[in-house]
Amino acid sequence: MTFIKGISKSAPWKVKESEVTPESVFKDRRRIIQAMGLGAVGASIPGYVQAGIFDLFGSPKSTTPFKTIPLAFHSNPLFSQQEGVTPIEKVMSHNNFYEFGTGKSDPAENAQGFNVDPWKLVVDGEVERTLTLDLDDLTKLIALEERTYRLRCVEAWSMVIPWVGFPLASLLKKAGLTDKAKYVAFETLYDPEQMPGQKSRLMGGGIHYPYVEGLTVAEAMNDLSFLSVGLYGKTLPPQNGAPIRLVVPWKYGFKSIKSIVRIRVMDKQPPTSWNQLASHEYGFYANVNPKVDHPRWSQATERRIGEGGLFSAKRIETELFNGYGDQVAELYKGVDLRKYF
Ligand code: MTE
Repeated sequence: MTFIKGISKSAPWKVKESEVTPESVFKDRRRIIQAMGLGAVGASIPGYVQAGIFDLFGSPKSTTPFKTIPLAFHSNPLFSQQEGVTPIEKVMSHNNFYEFGTGKSDPAENAQGFNVDPWKLVVDGEVERTLTLDLDDLTKLIALEERTYRLRCVEAWSMVIPWVGFPLASLLKKAGLTDKAKYVAFETLYDPEQMPGQKSRLMGGGIHYPYVEGLTVAEAMNDLSFLSVGLYGKTLPPQNGAPIRLVVPWKYGFKSIKSIVRIRVMDKQPPTSWNQLASHEYGFYANVNPKVDHPRWSQATERRIGEGGLFSAKRIETELFNGYGDQVAELYKGVDLRKYF
């Protein structure tokens, strides 16, 4: 099991019980698990057993769904809350993945035929060894763990998602960074035949594809930066970024790039998609910050998806660094967060 040194189990970035989504598929799952005599949900149940049980709940859309596979993993106790988790059907049906359309339901509807096998992920640039990973390597090279993180979109909605994956730092350490390594650039697959949004400016929201993102090396090596290969115990569905995507929970969701084919370590700051599209609205850093508003809307509060109805949606206060300040504030000591937004 992976513990972060010197950090107690009640660390503030843990998802709080008060953030709980009432009535959810998650509760149903727990009820069924208990009814099956499998005891409490959590560390006592191996991931693959939970994953098998999750099959009972199926996919939100039953039309020839993309096949997801149960994963073997351990639960990271620092991020192991089960109570606040957003219902799986919301996580899989309310998405931003402009390669499959700009509507929230477009990715779930348009990505079911997405083919991820074969897949190739290259780690190169300022590294001692270039790595080339195939689909199998993504789940086998590094031991998988489950971490429940909050995801805060720049559009002022949020979710709480149990990801399965491994720290980005573990992969970068396998490649070995050179002395020139300052930034890490990420690139999504470019395949207009499979991703209709890449063919049409209208459907793809005007983004210049492939979608690209970036972090500083210090951000990339922070333990919170995570490469996810699954959610809810199974491999990622295409709408959530199959077969591998980044999760950077203290930054706005657009930094968490999906369906990655290349991780390039660089000596210069790489271009990033939303910054290229509207640099006055979306910065390179994109740290969650309730005090720095988007030019067109406030970032002070957020709507937790899956809580309340359309007209009674629950709004909660947004926290600086999405509540993960104890882990990451050090990275921005002395930095003017208004200027470097
Ligand atoms: N990655 C790619 N390649 N294309 C995208 O359009 N959208 C981003 C991010 N990663 C996006 C992407 C945005 S704006 C958000 S909020 C998150 O994915 C949403 O992740 P989710 O759909 O799994 O909740």
